[in-house]
Amino acid sequence: MAGFIPDEIVERIRDECDILDLAGRYVHLKKKGRYYFGLCPFHSERTPSFSVDPEKQIFHCFGCGAGGDIYTLKMNLENLTFAEAVREIANEVGIAIPDQNEAEGDVSHARRKKSKILEALDLAAKFYRYVLQESVYGTKARDYVASRAFSPKVQEEFQLGFAPGSWDSLWRFLTRRGIDEAVLQEAGLVMPRQNGRGSYDRFRQRLMFPIHDTQGRVIGFGGRVIGEGEPKYLNSPETPLFNKSRTLFNLHRARKAIRQKQEVVLFEGYVDVITAWQAGIHHCVASLGTSLTEEQALLIRRNSENVIICFDADSAGEDAALRGLDVLKKQGCSVKVAQMPSNTDPDDYIRQYGGRRFGKTLWRQPFR
Ligand code: UTP
Ligand code: MN
Repeated sequence: MAGFIPDEIVERIRDECDILDLAGRYVHLKKKGRYYFGLCPFHSERTPSFSVDPEKQIFHCFGCGAGGDIYTLKMNLENLTFAEAVREIANEVGIAIPDQNEAEGDVSHARRKKSKILEALDLAAKFYRYVLQESVYGTKARDYVASRAFSPKVQEEFQLGFAPGSWDSLWRFLTRRGIDEAVLQEAGLVMPRQNGRGSYDRFRQRLMFPIHDTQGRVIGFGGRVIGEGEPKYLNSPETPLFNKSRTLFNLHRARKAIRQKQEVVLFEGYVDVITAWQAGIHHCVASLGTSLTEEQALLIRRNSENVIICFDADSAGEDAALRGLDVLKKQGCSVKVAQMPSNTDPDDYIRQYGGRRFGKTLWRQPFR
Protein backbone atom coordinates (compact mmCIF):
# COMPACT_ATOMS: atom_id res chain seq x y z
CA MET A 1 0.00 0.00 0.00
CA ALA A 2 1.29 3.40 -0.90
CA GLY A 3 0.82 5.64 2.12
CA PHE A 4 -0.88 8.97 2.37
CA ILE A 5 0.95 11.86 0.70
CA PRO A 6 0.33 15.34 2.13
CA ASP A 7 -1.17 17.91 -0.26
CA GLU A 8 1.63 20.38 0.23
CA ILE A 9 4.08 17.78 -1.04
CA VAL A 10 1.88 16.98 -4.03
CA GLU A 11 1.92 20.70 -4.82
CA ARG A 12 5.66 21.06 -4.30
CA ILE A 13 6.32 18.21 -6.69
CA ARG A 14 3.98 19.87 -9.19
CA ASP A 15 6.10 23.03 -8.98
CA GLU A 16 9.29 21.10 -9.62
CA CYS A 17 8.18 18.95 -12.52
CA ASP A 18 7.78 20.55 -15.92
CA ILE A 19 4.94 18.92 -17.87
CA LEU A 20 6.75 19.68 -21.10
CA ASP A 21 9.66 17.61 -19.85
CA LEU A 22 7.45 14.77 -18.79
CA ALA A 23 5.33 14.72 -21.95
CA GLY A 24 8.41 15.22 -24.12
CA ARG A 25 9.80 11.92 -22.91
CA TYR A 26 6.92 10.06 -24.53
CA VAL A 27 5.84 12.36 -27.35
CA HIS A 28 7.72 14.23 -30.04
CA LEU A 29 6.52 17.78 -29.39
CA LYS A 30 6.62 20.79 -31.64
CA LYS A 31 5.90 24.36 -30.68
CA LYS A 32 2.91 26.08 -32.26
CA GLY A 33 2.11 29.44 -30.73
CA ARG A 34 1.74 29.06 -26.98
CA TYR A 35 1.28 25.30 -27.15
CA TYR A 36 3.26 22.24 -28.05
CA PHE A 37 1.73 19.57 -30.26
CA GLY A 38 2.49 15.93 -30.89
CA LEU A 39 0.91 12.59 -31.72
CA CYS A 40 -1.40 11.55 -28.91
CA PRO A 41 -0.06 8.64 -26.81
CA PHE A 42 -3.61 7.65 -25.86
CA HIS A 43 -5.16 7.04 -29.25
CA SER A 44 -3.90 6.29 -32.72
CA GLU A 45 -3.61 9.24 -35.09
CA ARG A 46 -1.53 10.64 -37.94
CA THR A 47 -1.86 14.37 -37.35
CA PRO A 48 -0.92 15.76 -33.95
CA SER A 49 -3.87 16.67 -31.74
CA PHE A 50 -2.19 16.14 -28.38
CA SER A 51 -1.34 19.55 -26.93
CA VAL A 52 0.70 20.69 -23.95
CA ASP A 53 0.29 24.09 -22.37
CA PRO A 54 3.55 24.89 -20.57
CA GLU A 55 2.09 27.97 -18.87
CA LYS A 56 -0.86 26.19 -17.29
CA GLN A 57 1.13 22.95 -17.00
CA ILE A 58 -1.68 20.86 -18.46
CA PHE A 59 -2.21 18.63 -21.49
CA HIS A 60 -5.24 18.09 -23.69
CA CYS A 61 -5.95 15.90 -26.68
CA PHE A 62 -8.39 17.40 -29.18
CA GLY A 63 -8.82 13.95 -30.71
CA CYS A 64 -9.73 11.68 -27.82
CA GLY A 65 -10.41 14.23 -25.12
CA ALA A 66 -7.74 12.99 -22.69
CA GLY A 67 -6.42 15.76 -20.50
CA GLY A 68 -5.12 16.82 -17.13
CA ASP A 69 -1.97 17.67 -15.21
CA ILE A 70 1.39 15.95 -14.69
CA TYR A 71 -0.14 13.33 -12.44
CA THR A 72 -2.95 12.40 -14.80
CA LEU A 73 -0.42 12.19 -17.60
CA LYS A 74 1.93 9.93 -15.66
CA MET A 75 -0.93 7.73 -14.41
CA ASN A 76 -2.30 7.22 -17.91
CA LEU A 77 1.04 6.75 -19.60
CA GLU A 78 2.32 4.16 -17.18
CA ASN A 79 -0.90 2.76 -15.83
CA LEU A 80 -0.26 3.88 -12.26
CA THR A 81 -2.43 4.85 -9.32
CA PHE A 82 -2.32 8.48 -8.22
CA ALA A 83 -0.04 7.71 -5.28
CA GLU A 84 2.31 5.72 -7.48
CA ALA A 85 2.48 8.54 -10.03
CA VAL A 86 3.24 11.06 -7.29
CA ARG A 87 6.02 8.86 -5.92
CA GLU A 88 7.56 8.26 -9.33
CA ILE A 89 7.64 11.95 -10.18
CA ALA A 90 8.87 12.85 -6.69
CA ASN A 91 11.74 10.49 -7.25
CA GLU A 92 12.55 11.98 -10.63
CA VAL A 93 12.61 15.55 -9.33
CA GLY A 94 14.43 14.56 -6.15
CA ILE A 95 11.80 15.39 -3.56
CA ALA A 96 11.68 13.05 -0.59
CA ILE A 97 8.26 11.95 0.57
CA PRO A 98 8.28 11.43 4.33
CA ASP A 99 6.92 7.98 4.90
CA GLN A 100 6.60 6.23 8.22
CA ASN A 101 4.84 3.18 6.83
CA GLU A 102 7.42 2.17 4.30
CA ALA A 103 9.87 -0.44 5.51
CA GLU A 104 13.55 0.46 5.37
CA GLY A 105 13.89 -1.50 2.17
CA ASP A 106 16.40 -1.40 -0.66
CA VAL A 107 14.62 1.44 -2.41
CA SER A 108 14.92 3.88 0.44
CA HIS A 109 18.47 2.70 1.04
CA ALA A 110 19.43 3.57 -2.53
CA ARG A 111 17.66 6.89 -2.20
CA ARG A 112 19.49 7.70 1.02
CA LYS A 113 22.80 6.84 -0.57
CA LYS A 114 22.10 9.12 -3.51
CA SER A 115 21.18 12.00 -1.27
CA LYS A 116 24.44 11.55 0.65
CA ILE A 117 26.43 11.63 -2.56
CA LEU A 118 24.56 14.75 -3.63
CA GLU A 119 25.37 16.37 -0.32
CA ALA A 120 29.06 15.55 -0.70
CA LEU A 121 29.14 16.97 -4.22
CA ASP A 122 27.35 20.12 -3.16
CA LEU A 123 29.79 20.69 -0.31
CA ALA A 124 32.72 19.98 -2.62
CA ALA A 125 31.48 22.63 -5.06
CA LYS A 126 31.25 25.11 -2.18
CA PHE A 127 34.74 24.20 -0.99
CA TYR A 128 36.27 24.66 -4.46
CA ARG A 129 34.38 27.92 -4.86
CA TYR A 130 35.65 29.18 -1.53
CA VAL A 131 39.25 28.33 -2.43
CA LEU A 132 38.97 30.19 -5.73
CA GLN A 133 37.38 33.25 -4.19
CA GLU A 134 39.02 33.63 -0.84
CA SER A 135 41.91 31.35 -0.09
CA VAL A 136 45.65 32.07 -0.49
CA TYR A 137 45.84 28.73 -2.34
CA GLY A 138 43.60 30.23 -5.00
CA THR A 139 45.90 33.08 -6.05
CA LYS A 140 47.24 31.46 -9.21
CA ALA A 141 43.79 30.26 -10.21
CA ARG A 142 42.37 33.75 -9.72
CA ASP A 143 45.03 35.11 -12.06
CA TYR A 144 44.19 32.44 -14.59
CA VAL A 145 40.46 33.15 -14.41
CA ALA A 146 41.16 36.85 -14.80
CA SER A 147 43.33 36.13 -17.86
CA ARG A 148 40.35 34.35 -19.45
CA ALA A 149 38.19 37.37 -18.67
CA PHE A 150 35.41 35.55 -16.86
CA SER A 151 33.40 38.25 -15.11
CA PRO A 152 32.70 37.85 -11.37
CA LYS A 153 29.03 37.50 -12.28
CA VAL A 154 29.60 34.62 -14.66
CA GLN A 155 32.00 32.95 -12.22
CA GLU A 156 29.26 33.03 -9.63
CA GLU A 157 26.61 31.85 -12.06
CA PHE A 158 28.72 28.83 -13.07
CA GLN A 159 30.01 28.26 -9.53
CA LEU A 160 33.58 28.11 -10.77
CA GLY A 161 36.05 26.85 -8.22
CA PHE A 162 39.58 25.69 -7.68
CA ALA A 163 40.90 22.38 -6.40
CA PRO A 164 44.22 23.09 -4.67
CA GLY A 165 47.39 21.15 -5.50
CA SER A 166 47.52 19.27 -2.21
CA TRP A 167 46.69 15.56 -2.05
CA ASP A 168 43.99 15.71 0.55
CA SER A 169 42.56 19.19 1.13
CA LEU A 170 39.05 18.24 -0.03
CA TRP A 171 39.23 14.89 1.76
CA ARG A 172 40.14 16.65 5.02
CA PHE A 173 37.46 19.31 4.59
CA LEU A 174 34.67 16.84 3.94
CA THR A 175 35.61 14.10 6.40
CA ARG A 176 35.76 16.74 9.12
CA ARG A 177 32.21 17.59 8.23
CA GLY A 178 31.20 14.04 8.85
CA ILE A 179 30.99 12.77 5.27
CA ASP A 180 31.91 9.09 5.02
CA GLU A 181 34.98 8.08 3.10
CA ALA A 182 32.87 5.57 1.16
CA VAL A 183 30.47 8.32 0.10
CA LEU A 184 33.36 10.48 -1.09
CA GLN A 185 34.70 7.62 -3.17
CA GLU A 186 31.30 6.90 -4.66
CA ALA A 187 30.88 10.58 -5.47
CA GLY A 188 34.10 10.34 -7.50
CA LEU A 189 35.75 13.01 -5.40
CA VAL A 190 38.52 10.91 -3.85
CA MET A 191 40.33 7.70 -4.73
CA PRO A 192 41.54 4.97 -2.38
CA ARG A 193 45.26 5.07 -1.64
CA GLN A 194 47.37 2.23 -2.98
CA ASN A 195 48.47 1.16 0.49
CA GLY A 196 44.82 0.71 1.36
CA ARG A 197 44.65 3.36 4.04
CA GLY A 198 42.57 6.44 3.42
CA SER A 199 41.92 8.32 0.20
CA TYR A 200 43.39 11.13 -1.84
CA ASP A 201 41.69 13.89 -3.83
CA ARG A 202 40.93 13.13 -7.46
CA PHE A 203 41.06 16.76 -8.55
CA ARG A 204 44.23 18.68 -7.77
CA GLN A 205 45.51 21.98 -9.14
CA ARG A 206 42.48 22.33 -11.37
CA LEU A 207 39.93 24.98 -12.19
CA MET A 208 36.63 23.31 -11.37
CA PHE A 209 33.46 23.42 -13.45
CA PRO A 210 30.49 21.88 -11.60
CA ILE A 211 28.24 19.78 -13.82
CA HIS A 212 24.54 19.71 -12.93
CA ASP A 213 21.59 17.47 -13.64
CA THR A 214 18.45 18.92 -15.22
CA GLN A 215 17.22 19.92 -11.79
CA GLY A 216 20.35 21.95 -11.14
CA ARG A 217 21.98 19.64 -8.62
CA VAL A 218 25.74 19.11 -8.82
CA ILE A 219 26.36 15.55 -10.04
CA GLY A 220 29.98 15.82 -11.16
CA PHE A 221 32.85 18.08 -12.14
CA GLY A 222 35.10 18.91 -15.02
CA GLY A 223 38.52 20.16 -13.95
CA ARG A 224 40.95 22.08 -16.17
CA VAL A 225 44.57 21.86 -15.19
CA ILE A 226 46.22 25.12 -14.24
CA GLY A 227 49.86 25.10 -15.24
CA GLU A 228 51.46 21.83 -16.30
CA GLY A 229 49.70 18.49 -16.19
CA GLU A 230 47.77 15.82 -18.03
CA PRO A 231 45.03 15.48 -19.02
CA LYS A 232 44.04 19.06 -19.77
CA TYR A 233 40.49 18.33 -18.66
CA LEU A 234 39.67 15.68 -16.10
CA ASN A 235 36.03 14.73 -15.50
CA SER A 236 34.36 12.92 -12.64
CA PRO A 237 34.12 9.17 -13.22
CA GLU A 238 30.76 7.47 -13.77
CA THR A 239 28.91 7.32 -10.45
CA PRO A 240 25.40 6.34 -9.34
CA LEU A 241 24.44 9.93 -10.22
CA PHE A 242 26.79 10.95 -13.00
CA ASN A 243 26.33 9.36 -16.38
CA LYS A 244 28.32 11.23 -19.01
CA SER A 245 26.41 9.91 -21.95
CA ARG A 246 23.12 11.13 -20.51
CA THR A 247 24.26 14.54 -19.32
CA LEU A 248 24.82 17.85 -21.08
CA PHE A 249 26.79 20.64 -19.50
CA ASN A 250 24.62 23.70 -18.79
CA LEU A 251 21.27 22.20 -19.83
CA HIS A 252 19.51 23.18 -16.60
CA ARG A 253 20.50 26.83 -17.04
CA ALA A 254 19.91 26.96 -20.77
CA ARG A 255 16.59 25.16 -20.91
CA LYS A 256 14.37 28.21 -20.62
CA ALA A 257 16.23 30.07 -23.37
CA ILE A 258 16.31 26.95 -25.54
CA ARG A 259 12.55 26.57 -25.33
CA GLN A 260 11.91 30.23 -25.95
CA LYS A 261 14.16 30.34 -28.99
CA GLN A 262 13.40 26.81 -30.12
CA GLU A 263 17.09 26.48 -30.88
CA VAL A 264 20.15 25.01 -29.14
CA VAL A 265 23.80 25.80 -29.68
CA LEU A 266 25.96 22.75 -29.05
CA PHE A 267 29.59 23.39 -28.12
CA GLU A 268 32.55 21.12 -27.43
CA GLY A 269 33.93 22.86 -24.40
CA TYR A 270 32.82 24.15 -21.03
CA VAL A 271 34.71 27.36 -21.64
CA ASP A 272 32.88 27.94 -24.92
CA VAL A 273 29.56 27.71 -23.09
CA ILE A 274 30.65 30.11 -20.38
CA THR A 275 32.08 32.67 -22.78
CA ALA A 276 28.93 32.50 -24.90
CA TRP A 277 26.78 32.89 -21.81
CA GLN A 278 28.78 35.93 -20.79
CA ALA A 279 28.19 37.39 -24.25
CA GLY A 280 24.43 36.98 -23.85
CA ILE A 281 23.99 33.69 -25.71
CA HIS A 282 22.10 31.58 -23.20
CA HIS A 283 20.70 28.70 -25.22
CA CYS A 284 23.92 26.70 -25.28
CA VAL A 285 25.12 23.37 -23.92
CA ALA A 286 28.20 21.16 -24.30
CA SER A 287 28.79 17.43 -24.35
CA LEU A 288 31.22 16.12 -21.76
CA GLY A 289 34.45 15.42 -23.59
CA THR A 290 33.04 12.49 -25.55
CA SER A 291 31.36 12.56 -28.91
CA LEU A 292 27.64 13.23 -28.79
CA THR A 293 25.64 10.18 -27.73
CA GLU A 294 22.17 9.14 -28.81
CA GLU A 295 20.85 9.85 -25.32
CA GLN A 296 22.28 13.37 -25.37
CA ALA A 297 20.74 13.96 -28.79
CA LEU A 298 17.37 12.81 -27.45
CA LEU A 299 17.76 15.12 -24.49
CA ILE A 300 18.36 17.98 -26.91
CA ARG A 301 15.46 16.96 -29.12
CA ARG A 302 13.08 17.05 -26.18
CA ASN A 303 13.82 20.70 -25.75
CA SER A 304 14.18 21.87 -29.32
CA GLU A 305 14.24 20.52 -32.84
CA ASN A 306 16.76 23.03 -34.17
CA VAL A 307 20.40 22.58 -33.30
CA ILE A 308 23.48 24.55 -34.25
CA ILE A 309 26.70 22.62 -33.79
CA CYS A 310 29.58 24.94 -33.12
CA PHE A 311 32.83 23.03 -32.65
CA ASP A 312 36.49 23.97 -32.95
CA ALA A 313 37.68 24.75 -36.46
CA ASP A 314 40.31 22.02 -36.51
CA SER A 315 40.13 18.59 -38.08
CA ALA A 316 39.15 16.86 -34.82
CA GLY A 317 36.37 19.42 -34.33
CA GLU A 318 35.10 19.01 -37.89
CA ASP A 319 34.98 15.21 -37.61
CA ALA A 320 33.16 15.46 -34.29
CA ALA A 321 30.69 17.95 -35.81
CA LEU A 322 29.85 15.58 -38.65
CA ARG A 323 29.34 12.69 -36.26
CA GLY A 324 27.13 14.89 -34.08
CA LEU A 325 25.15 15.94 -37.15
CA ASP A 326 24.33 12.29 -37.91
CA VAL A 327 23.32 11.45 -34.35
CA LEU A 328 21.09 14.52 -34.10
CA LYS A 329 19.42 13.94 -37.44
CA LYS A 330 18.60 10.40 -36.38
CA GLN A 331 16.66 11.86 -33.48
CA GLY A 332 14.72 14.10 -35.84
CA CYS A 333 16.62 17.36 -35.40
CA SER A 334 17.29 20.02 -38.02
CA VAL A 335 20.96 20.80 -37.75
CA LYS A 336 23.26 23.64 -38.76
CA VAL A 337 27.01 23.40 -38.52
CA ALA A 338 28.59 26.76 -37.78
CA GLN A 339 31.91 27.52 -39.38
CA MET A 340 34.56 29.23 -37.27
CA PRO A 341 37.68 30.69 -38.96
CA SER A 342 40.40 28.01 -39.09
CA ASN A 343 42.07 27.09 -35.82
CA THR A 344 39.69 29.22 -33.83
CA ASP A 345 37.38 27.88 -31.21
CA PRO A 346 34.09 29.57 -30.32
CA ASP A 347 35.62 30.93 -27.14
CA ASP A 348 38.40 32.71 -29.10
CA TYR A 349 35.90 33.98 -31.65
CA ILE A 350 33.50 35.48 -29.15
CA ARG A 351 36.32 37.09 -27.21
CA GLN A 352 37.66 38.63 -30.39
CA TYR A 353 34.48 39.69 -32.15
CA GLY A 354 31.78 39.72 -29.48
CA GLY A 355 28.47 37.94 -29.07
CA ARG A 356 26.55 39.87 -31.71
CA ARG A 357 28.83 38.95 -34.54
CA PHE A 358 29.07 35.41 -33.26
CA GLY A 359 25.29 35.16 -33.28
CA LYS A 360 25.18 36.32 -36.86
CA THR A 361 27.67 33.68 -38.00
CA LEU A 362 25.48 31.06 -36.31
CA TRP A 363 22.26 31.99 -38.04
CA ARG A 364 23.77 32.35 -41.47
CA GLN A 365 24.32 28.60 -41.84
CA PRO A 366 21.86 26.51 -43.85
CA PHE A 367 19.99 23.65 -42.18
CA ARG A 368 20.94 20.12 -43.09
P1 UTP B 1 39.63 21.61 -25.90
O1 UTP B 1 40.97 21.00 -25.78
O2 UTP B 1 39.20 22.18 -27.22
O3 UTP B 1 39.53 22.64 -24.75
O4 UTP B 1 38.58 20.53 -25.42
P2 UTP B 1 38.90 24.10 -24.69
O5 UTP B 1 37.45 23.98 -24.41
O6 UTP B 1 39.35 24.93 -25.84
O7 UTP B 1 39.58 24.55 -23.36
P3 UTP B 1 40.62 25.71 -23.11
O8 UTP B 1 40.11 26.89 -23.86
O9 UTP B 1 41.96 25.26 -23.54
O10 UTP B 1 40.53 25.84 -21.61
C1 UTP B 1 37.20 20.71 -25.58
C2 UTP B 1 36.47 19.92 -24.55
O11 UTP B 1 36.83 18.54 -24.64
C3 UTP B 1 36.89 17.96 -23.35
C4 UTP B 1 36.47 19.04 -22.38
O12 UTP B 1 35.08 18.93 -22.17
C5 UTP B 1 36.77 20.31 -23.12
O13 UTP B 1 35.98 21.40 -22.65
N1 UTP B 1 38.24 17.46 -23.03
C6 UTP B 1 39.34 18.02 -23.60
C7 UTP B 1 38.39 16.44 -22.14
O14 UTP B 1 37.40 15.94 -21.59
N2 UTP B 1 39.65 16.01 -21.81
C8 UTP B 1 40.78 16.58 -22.36
O15 UTP B 1 41.89 16.16 -22.01
C9 UTP B 1 40.61 17.59 -23.28
MN1 MN C 1 39.66 26.99 -25.89
